[in-house]
Amino acid sequence: MRLVSTFRLSISLALASTSLVNVTSTAGMATMRAVQYESGCLPEQMQIKQVPRPTLRSGEILIKVHSSAINRAETLQRKGLYPPIKGESEILGLEAAGEIVETHEVCHKTWNIGDHVMALLPGGGNAEYVTVDSQHAMKVPKSMSLLEAGGIPEVWLTAYQILHFVGKLKAGEKVLIHAGASGVGTAAVQLVQLANAVPLITAGSADKIAFVKSLGAVDGFNYKEGSWVSKVMEATNGEGVDLVIDCVGGSYWQQNTDVLKTDGRWVLYGLMGGANVDGALLRKLLSKRISILPSTLKTRDKQYKADLIRSFETNILPAFDSKALKPVIDRSLELEDIGKAHALMESNLNAGKILLKVIPTTKEEL
Ligand SMILES: NC(=O)c1ccc[n+]([C@@H]2O[C@H](COP(=O)([O-])OP(=O)(O)OC[C@H]3O[C@@H](n4cnc5c(N)ncnc54)[C@H](OP(=O)(O)O)[C@@H]3O)[C@@H](O)[C@H]2O)c1
Repeated sequence: MRLVSTFRLSISLALASTSLVNVTSTAGMATMRAVQYESGCLPEQMQIKQVPRPTLRSGEILIKVHSSAINRAETLQRKGLYPPIKGESEILGLEAAGEIVETHEVCHKTWNIGDHVMALLPGGGNAEYVTVDSQHAMKVPKSMSLLEAGGIPEVWLTAYQILHFVGKLKAGEKVLIHAGASGVGTAAVQLVQLANAVPLITAGSADKIAFVKSLGAVDGFNYKEGSWVSKVMEATNGEGVDLVIDCVGGSYWQQNTDVLKTDGRWVLYGLMGGANVDGALLRKLLSKRISILPSTLKTRDKQYKADLIRSFETNILPAFDSKALKPVIDRSLELEDIGKAHALMESNLNAGKILLKVIPTTKEEL
Protein backbone atom coordinates (compact mmCIF):
# COMPACT_ATOMS: atom_id res chain seq x y z
CA MET A 1 0.00 0.00 0.00
CA ARG A 2 1.16 3.50 -0.78
CA LEU A 3 0.96 6.49 1.56
CA VAL A 4 -1.01 9.13 -0.29
CA SER A 5 0.03 12.72 0.18
CA THR A 6 -0.17 15.79 -2.02
CA PHE A 7 1.97 15.52 -5.12
CA ARG A 8 2.27 19.28 -5.42
CA LEU A 9 3.20 19.70 -1.80
CA SER A 10 5.86 17.01 -2.01
CA ILE A 11 7.37 18.98 -4.87
CA SER A 12 7.28 22.21 -2.82
CA LEU A 13 8.99 20.45 0.06
CA ALA A 14 11.61 18.94 -2.21
CA LEU A 15 12.30 22.33 -3.76
CA ALA A 16 12.40 24.00 -0.37
CA SER A 17 14.96 21.57 0.98
CA THR A 18 17.29 21.96 -1.98
CA SER A 19 17.04 25.67 -2.71
CA LEU A 20 18.45 28.54 -0.68
CA VAL A 21 15.94 30.84 -2.35
CA ASN A 22 13.21 28.91 -0.61
CA VAL A 23 14.76 29.03 2.83
CA THR A 24 12.29 31.65 4.02
CA SER A 25 9.27 29.70 2.84
CA THR A 26 10.68 26.51 4.34
CA ALA A 27 11.17 28.14 7.70
CA GLY A 28 7.74 29.66 7.59
CA MET A 29 6.06 26.76 5.83
CA ALA A 30 2.64 26.56 7.30
CA THR A 31 0.93 23.26 7.84
CA MET A 32 -2.71 22.24 7.93
CA ARG A 33 -4.92 19.35 9.00
CA ALA A 34 -5.85 17.08 6.10
CA VAL A 35 -7.33 13.65 5.49
CA GLN A 36 -4.61 11.09 4.78
CA TYR A 37 -4.98 7.43 3.92
CA GLU A 38 -3.20 4.49 2.38
CA SER A 39 -4.59 3.42 -0.95
CA GLY A 40 -6.85 0.40 -0.46
CA CYS A 41 -7.43 1.06 3.25
CA LEU A 42 -10.67 0.61 5.17
CA PRO A 43 -12.70 3.70 6.16
CA GLU A 44 -11.67 3.39 9.83
CA GLN A 45 -7.99 3.46 8.84
CA MET A 46 -8.22 6.99 7.41
CA GLN A 47 -6.48 9.63 9.50
CA ILE A 48 -6.11 13.37 9.97
CA LYS A 49 -2.49 14.49 9.78
CA GLN A 50 -0.54 17.74 9.57
CA VAL A 51 0.71 18.33 6.03
CA PRO A 52 2.14 21.45 4.33
CA ARG A 53 -0.40 23.99 3.07
CA PRO A 54 -0.76 24.13 -0.71
CA THR A 55 0.80 27.06 -2.52
CA LEU A 56 -0.75 29.14 -5.29
CA ARG A 57 -0.12 28.50 -8.97
CA SER A 58 -0.92 31.02 -11.68
CA GLY A 59 -4.66 31.63 -11.95
CA GLU A 60 -5.47 30.18 -8.53
CA ILE A 61 -7.00 31.32 -5.26
CA LEU A 62 -6.33 29.91 -1.78
CA ILE A 63 -9.41 29.04 0.25
CA LYS A 64 -9.52 28.59 4.02
CA VAL A 65 -11.97 25.69 4.09
CA HIS A 66 -14.98 25.85 6.41
CA SER A 67 -16.75 22.79 5.04
CA SER A 68 -16.34 20.04 2.51
CA ALA A 69 -18.30 16.89 1.68
CA ILE A 70 -17.79 13.35 0.49
CA ASN A 71 -18.72 11.75 -2.81
CA ARG A 72 -18.81 8.21 -4.19
CA ALA A 73 -15.80 8.97 -6.37
CA GLU A 74 -13.75 9.61 -3.23
CA THR A 75 -14.68 6.25 -1.71
CA LEU A 76 -13.46 4.69 -4.98
CA GLN A 77 -10.26 6.78 -4.85
CA ARG A 78 -9.62 5.59 -1.27
CA LYS A 79 -9.99 1.99 -2.48
CA GLY A 80 -7.47 2.64 -5.25
CA LEU A 81 -10.10 2.32 -8.01
CA TYR A 82 -10.27 5.94 -9.24
CA PRO A 83 -6.95 7.77 -9.48
CA PRO A 84 -6.56 11.46 -8.67
CA ILE A 85 -6.05 13.83 -11.60
CA LYS A 86 -2.37 13.89 -12.65
CA GLY A 87 -0.53 16.87 -11.19
CA GLU A 88 -3.35 17.80 -8.79
CA SER A 89 -3.70 17.30 -5.04
CA GLU A 90 -3.95 13.67 -3.95
CA ILE A 91 -5.86 14.71 -0.84
CA LEU A 92 -9.49 13.62 -1.12
CA GLY A 93 -12.29 16.16 -1.58
CA LEU A 94 -13.88 17.32 -4.84
CA GLU A 95 -15.66 20.30 -3.29
CA ALA A 96 -15.32 22.79 -0.46
CA ALA A 97 -16.60 26.13 0.78
CA GLY A 98 -14.81 28.79 2.77
CA GLU A 99 -13.19 32.20 2.61
CA ILE A 100 -10.54 33.40 0.19
CA VAL A 101 -7.27 34.15 1.99
CA GLU A 102 -4.93 34.68 -0.99
CA THR A 103 -5.20 35.24 -4.73
CA HIS A 104 -2.54 34.86 -7.42
CA GLU A 105 -1.73 38.07 -9.28
CA VAL A 106 -2.92 36.38 -12.48
CA CYS A 107 -6.55 35.29 -12.11
CA HIS A 108 -9.21 35.02 -14.81
CA LYS A 109 -12.01 35.77 -12.37
CA THR A 110 -11.84 38.64 -9.90
CA TRP A 111 -12.09 37.82 -6.21
CA ASN A 112 -11.35 39.71 -2.99
CA ILE A 113 -9.72 38.44 0.18
CA GLY A 114 -12.50 37.43 2.55
CA ASP A 115 -15.03 36.52 -0.16
CA HIS A 116 -17.13 33.49 0.72
CA VAL A 117 -16.94 30.95 -2.08
CA MET A 118 -17.72 27.34 -2.90
CA ALA A 119 -15.50 25.55 -5.39
CA LEU A 120 -15.38 22.54 -7.67
CA LEU A 121 -12.01 20.94 -6.96
CA PRO A 122 -9.80 18.42 -8.75
CA GLY A 123 -9.04 17.16 -5.19
CA GLY A 124 -7.80 18.56 -1.89
CA GLY A 125 -11.08 19.64 -0.25
CA ASN A 126 -10.84 17.42 2.84
CA ALA A 127 -8.29 19.76 4.40
CA GLU A 128 -8.04 23.16 6.10
CA TYR A 129 -6.74 24.96 2.99
CA VAL A 130 -7.14 24.28 -0.73
CA THR A 131 -6.07 26.01 -3.93
CA VAL A 132 -8.30 26.12 -6.99
CA ASP A 133 -8.56 27.80 -10.40
CA SER A 134 -10.23 31.16 -9.76
CA GLN A 135 -12.84 30.30 -12.43
CA HIS A 136 -13.91 27.16 -10.57
CA ALA A 137 -15.19 29.07 -7.54
CA MET A 138 -18.68 30.53 -7.12
CA LYS A 139 -20.00 33.10 -4.68
CA VAL A 140 -22.04 31.46 -1.91
CA PRO A 141 -25.71 32.52 -2.29
CA LYS A 142 -26.99 34.78 0.49
CA SER A 143 -29.52 32.22 1.67
CA MET A 144 -26.95 29.46 2.09
CA SER A 145 -24.61 28.82 5.04
CA LEU A 146 -20.93 28.10 4.40
CA LEU A 147 -21.57 24.67 5.86
CA GLU A 148 -24.31 23.87 3.31
CA ALA A 149 -22.23 25.37 0.50
CA GLY A 150 -19.48 22.77 1.02
CA GLY A 151 -21.78 20.12 -0.43
CA ILE A 152 -23.05 22.02 -3.47
CA PRO A 153 -20.42 22.09 -6.26
CA GLU A 154 -19.77 18.44 -7.11
CA VAL A 155 -23.29 17.01 -7.14
CA TRP A 156 -25.18 20.08 -8.36
CA LEU A 157 -22.74 20.75 -11.19
CA THR A 158 -22.85 17.05 -12.10
CA ALA A 159 -26.66 17.07 -12.14
CA TYR A 160 -26.77 20.34 -14.12
CA GLN A 161 -24.20 19.06 -16.60
CA ILE A 162 -25.84 15.70 -17.27
CA LEU A 163 -29.34 17.14 -17.55
CA HIS A 164 -28.59 20.23 -19.65
CA PHE A 165 -25.12 20.08 -21.26
CA VAL A 166 -25.29 16.33 -22.01
CA GLY A 167 -28.95 15.29 -21.79
CA LYS A 168 -30.37 18.42 -23.53
CA LEU A 169 -33.44 18.36 -21.27
CA LYS A 170 -36.55 20.11 -22.61
CA ALA A 171 -39.61 21.37 -20.75
CA GLY A 172 -42.39 18.80 -20.51
CA GLU A 173 -40.08 15.78 -20.89
CA LYS A 174 -40.31 12.80 -18.55
CA VAL A 175 -37.04 11.92 -16.83
CA LEU A 176 -36.22 8.74 -14.91
CA ILE A 177 -33.47 9.37 -12.32
CA HIS A 178 -31.82 6.34 -10.74
CA ALA A 179 -30.47 6.46 -7.17
CA GLY A 180 -32.98 9.26 -6.63
CA ALA A 181 -31.98 9.80 -2.99
CA SER A 182 -28.25 10.14 -3.76
CA GLY A 183 -26.46 13.47 -3.64
CA VAL A 184 -26.66 13.79 -7.43
CA GLY A 185 -30.19 12.33 -7.56
CA THR A 186 -31.69 14.80 -5.06
CA ALA A 187 -30.14 17.70 -7.02
CA ALA A 188 -31.31 16.27 -10.37
CA VAL A 189 -34.92 15.88 -9.20
CA GLN A 190 -35.05 19.57 -8.24
CA LEU A 191 -33.38 20.70 -11.48
CA VAL A 192 -35.81 18.67 -13.60
CA GLN A 193 -38.69 20.30 -11.78
CA LEU A 194 -37.12 23.74 -12.22
CA ALA A 195 -36.93 23.07 -15.98
CA ASN A 196 -40.70 22.33 -16.00
CA ALA A 197 -40.06 18.70 -16.80
CA VAL A 198 -41.28 15.61 -14.94
CA PRO A 199 -38.93 13.72 -12.54
CA LEU A 200 -39.51 10.04 -11.69
CA ILE A 201 -37.03 8.08 -9.57
CA THR A 202 -35.85 4.68 -8.48
CA ALA A 203 -34.42 4.07 -4.99
CA GLY A 204 -33.85 1.21 -2.58
CA SER A 205 -36.40 1.88 0.16
CA ALA A 206 -39.88 3.28 0.75
CA ASP A 207 -38.42 5.90 3.09
CA LYS A 208 -36.01 7.17 0.46
CA ILE A 209 -38.79 7.29 -2.15
CA ALA A 210 -41.06 9.25 0.19
CA PHE A 211 -38.21 11.65 0.93
CA VAL A 212 -37.44 12.28 -2.75
CA LYS A 213 -41.15 12.76 -3.49
CA SER A 214 -41.09 15.51 -0.87
CA LEU A 215 -38.40 17.18 -3.01
CA GLY A 216 -40.57 17.05 -6.14
CA ALA A 217 -40.35 13.56 -7.69
CA VAL A 218 -43.80 12.75 -9.12
CA ASP A 219 -43.37 9.01 -8.61
CA GLY A 220 -40.81 6.56 -7.27
CA PHE A 221 -40.09 2.85 -7.65
CA ASN A 222 -38.27 0.53 -5.27
CA TYR A 223 -35.78 -1.44 -7.37
CA LYS A 224 -35.39 -3.97 -4.55
CA GLU A 225 -38.99 -5.12 -5.18
CA GLY A 226 -38.17 -6.38 -8.70
CA SER A 227 -38.48 -4.90 -12.19
CA TRP A 228 -39.73 -1.32 -12.31
CA VAL A 229 -40.54 -1.39 -16.04
CA SER A 230 -44.31 -1.89 -15.82
CA LYS A 231 -44.55 0.69 -13.00
CA VAL A 232 -42.72 3.33 -15.05
CA MET A 233 -44.87 2.56 -18.11
CA GLU A 234 -48.03 2.85 -16.00
CA ALA A 235 -46.88 6.14 -14.49
CA THR A 236 -46.23 7.56 -17.97
CA ASN A 237 -49.54 6.40 -19.53
CA GLY A 238 -47.72 3.72 -21.48
CA GLU A 239 -45.46 6.21 -23.24
CA GLY A 240 -42.19 5.69 -21.35
CA VAL A 241 -39.60 8.34 -20.61
CA ASP A 242 -37.56 10.72 -22.79
CA LEU A 243 -34.42 10.69 -20.67
CA VAL A 244 -32.81 8.26 -18.22
CA ILE A 245 -30.23 9.67 -15.77
CA ASP A 246 -28.27 6.56 -14.85
CA CYS A 247 -25.43 5.99 -12.39
CA VAL A 248 -26.15 2.26 -12.11
CA GLY A 249 -25.26 0.99 -15.59
CA GLY A 250 -24.88 -2.77 -16.25
CA SER A 251 -27.67 -4.21 -14.10
CA TYR A 252 -30.19 -1.68 -15.50
CA TRP A 253 -29.46 -1.80 -19.24
CA GLN A 254 -32.46 -3.94 -20.20
CA GLN A 255 -34.95 -2.01 -18.09
CA ASN A 256 -33.57 1.33 -19.26
CA THR A 257 -34.06 0.40 -22.89
CA ASP A 258 -37.55 -0.97 -22.11
CA VAL A 259 -38.78 2.30 -20.56
CA LEU A 260 -37.11 4.74 -22.97
CA LYS A 261 -39.24 6.11 -25.79
CA THR A 262 -38.11 5.85 -29.41
CA ASP A 263 -35.31 8.43 -29.86
CA GLY A 264 -34.83 8.50 -26.07
CA ARG A 265 -31.55 9.55 -24.41
CA TRP A 266 -29.74 7.50 -21.79
CA VAL A 267 -27.13 9.50 -19.86
CA LEU A 268 -24.67 7.10 -18.23
CA TYR A 269 -22.61 8.73 -15.49
CA GLY A 270 -21.83 5.91 -13.03
CA LEU A 271 -21.46 2.14 -12.86
CA MET A 272 -22.70 1.20 -9.40
CA GLY A 273 -24.54 -1.79 -10.94
CA GLY A 274 -21.53 -2.99 -12.92
CA ALA A 275 -19.81 -2.32 -16.24
CA ASN A 276 -20.71 -5.51 -18.09
CA VAL A 277 -23.78 -5.97 -20.26
CA ASP A 278 -25.11 -9.43 -20.96
CA GLY A 279 -27.59 -9.40 -23.85
CA ALA A 280 -28.59 -7.81 -27.15
CA LEU A 281 -28.07 -4.20 -26.10
CA LEU A 282 -27.14 -3.00 -29.59
CA ARG A 283 -30.35 -4.43 -31.12
CA LYS A 284 -32.40 -2.58 -28.54
CA LEU A 285 -30.51 0.69 -29.15
CA LEU A 286 -30.90 0.37 -32.91
CA SER A 287 -34.56 -0.60 -32.92
CA LYS A 288 -35.56 2.37 -30.71
CA ARG A 289 -32.81 4.75 -31.93
CA ILE A 290 -31.74 5.27 -28.31
CA SER A 291 -28.61 7.38 -27.72
CA ILE A 292 -26.21 6.47 -24.93
CA LEU A 293 -24.50 9.61 -23.62
CA PRO A 294 -21.65 8.84 -21.18
CA SER A 295 -20.41 11.67 -18.99
CA THR A 296 -17.77 12.36 -16.34
CA LEU A 297 -17.11 15.72 -14.68
CA LYS A 298 -13.80 15.23 -12.84
CA THR A 299 -11.84 14.49 -16.01
CA ARG A 300 -13.19 17.43 -18.08
CA ASP A 301 -10.67 20.11 -18.96
CA LYS A 302 -10.41 23.37 -16.98
CA GLN A 303 -12.16 25.52 -19.60
CA TYR A 304 -15.15 23.13 -19.83
CA LYS A 305 -15.51 23.29 -16.03
CA ALA A 306 -15.23 27.10 -16.10
CA ASP A 307 -17.96 27.33 -18.78
CA LEU A 308 -20.20 24.90 -16.88
CA ILE A 309 -19.76 26.89 -13.65
CA ARG A 310 -20.49 30.21 -15.36
CA SER A 311 -23.70 28.77 -16.83
CA PHE A 312 -24.70 27.31 -13.44
CA GLU A 313 -24.08 30.65 -11.70
CA THR A 314 -26.29 32.47 -14.17
CA ASN A 315 -29.10 29.97 -14.59
CA ILE A 316 -29.30 28.05 -11.32
CA LEU A 317 -27.71 29.81 -8.33
CA PRO A 318 -30.42 32.54 -8.06
CA ALA A 319 -33.01 29.78 -7.55
CA PHE A 320 -31.43 28.96 -4.15
CA ASP A 321 -32.13 32.48 -2.89
CA SER A 322 -35.70 32.35 -4.22
CA LYS A 323 -36.08 28.98 -2.41
CA ALA A 324 -37.03 27.15 -5.62
CA LEU A 325 -34.00 24.93 -4.90
CA LYS A 326 -32.55 23.74 -1.62
CA PRO A 327 -29.38 21.92 -0.54
CA VAL A 328 -30.20 18.40 0.62
CA ILE A 329 -28.12 17.47 3.66
CA ASP A 330 -28.16 14.00 5.16
CA ARG A 331 -25.89 15.01 8.06
CA SER A 332 -22.75 16.92 8.87
CA LEU A 333 -19.76 15.35 10.59
CA GLU A 334 -16.42 16.65 11.84
CA LEU A 335 -13.39 16.26 9.55
CA GLU A 336 -12.07 13.78 12.12
CA ASP A 337 -15.11 11.58 11.38
CA ILE A 338 -13.98 11.02 7.78
CA GLY A 339 -13.88 7.23 8.25
CA LYS A 340 -17.43 7.22 9.60
CA ALA A 341 -18.55 9.35 6.63
CA HIS A 342 -17.06 6.93 4.09
CA ALA A 343 -18.56 3.92 5.89
CA LEU A 344 -22.01 5.54 5.93
CA MET A 345 -21.87 6.27 2.21
CA GLU A 346 -20.64 2.80 1.35
CA SER A 347 -23.55 1.32 3.34
CA ASN A 348 -26.00 3.35 1.19
CA LEU A 349 -27.38 4.93 4.38
CA ASN A 350 -27.39 8.58 3.29
CA ALA A 351 -30.12 10.53 1.51
CA GLY A 352 -28.46 13.68 0.17
CA LYS A 353 -25.05 14.96 1.17
CA ILE A 354 -22.73 13.98 3.99
CA LEU A 355 -20.93 17.22 4.91
CA LEU A 356 -17.60 17.61 6.69
CA LYS A 357 -17.14 20.49 9.12
CA VAL A 358 -13.54 21.51 8.70
CA ILE A 359 -13.48 24.47 11.09
CA PRO A 360 -15.99 24.92 13.91
CA THR A 361 -19.32 26.18 12.61
CA THR A 362 -20.89 29.41 13.78
CA LYS A 363 -24.01 29.41 15.93
CA GLU A 364 -26.22 30.16 12.92
CA GLU A 365 -24.94 27.07 11.13
CA LEU A 366 -25.64 24.58 13.92
N1 LIG B 1 -19.82 10.98 -13.93
C1 LIG B 1 -19.75 11.99 -13.09
O1 LIG B 1 -19.33 13.09 -13.45
C2 LIG B 1 -20.18 11.82 -11.67
C3 LIG B 1 -20.07 12.87 -10.75
C4 LIG B 1 -20.57 12.69 -9.46
C5 LIG B 1 -21.11 11.45 -9.10
N2 LIG B 1 -21.14 10.44 -10.02
C6 LIG B 1 -21.75 9.15 -9.70
O2 LIG B 1 -23.07 9.41 -9.28
C7 LIG B 1 -23.50 8.39 -8.40
C8 LIG B 1 -24.10 9.03 -7.18
O3 LIG B 1 -23.07 9.69 -6.46
P1 LIG B 1 -23.39 10.36 -5.05
O4 LIG B 1 -22.12 10.83 -4.47
O5 LIG B 1 -24.52 11.28 -5.22
O6 LIG B 1 -23.88 9.02 -4.30
P2 LIG B 1 -24.56 8.74 -2.90
O7 LIG B 1 -25.14 9.96 -2.28
O8 LIG B 1 -23.59 7.92 -2.14
O9 LIG B 1 -25.79 7.78 -3.31
C9 LIG B 1 -25.62 6.60 -4.00
C10 LIG B 1 -26.87 5.73 -3.81
O10 LIG B 1 -26.97 4.84 -4.93
C11 LIG B 1 -27.74 3.71 -4.55
N3 LIG B 1 -27.06 2.50 -5.05
C12 LIG B 1 -25.86 2.02 -4.65
N4 LIG B 1 -25.56 0.90 -5.34
C13 LIG B 1 -26.59 0.67 -6.18
C14 LIG B 1 -26.87 -0.34 -7.15
N5 LIG B 1 -26.02 -1.35 -7.39
N6 LIG B 1 -28.03 -0.26 -7.85
C15 LIG B 1 -28.90 0.76 -7.62
N7 LIG B 1 -28.71 1.75 -6.72
C16 LIG B 1 -27.56 1.70 -6.01
C17 LIG B 1 -27.84 3.73 -3.03
O11 LIG B 1 -29.15 4.17 -2.68
P3 LIG B 1 -30.39 3.13 -2.52
O12 LIG B 1 -30.58 2.98 -1.06
O13 LIG B 1 -31.48 3.85 -3.21
O14 LIG B 1 -29.96 1.85 -3.18
C18 LIG B 1 -26.83 4.80 -2.62
O15 LIG B 1 -27.19 5.45 -1.41
C19 LIG B 1 -22.27 7.52 -8.13
O16 LIG B 1 -22.31 6.40 -8.99
C20 LIG B 1 -21.12 8.43 -8.53
O17 LIG B 1 -19.97 7.71 -8.91
C21 LIG B 1 -20.69 10.60 -11.29
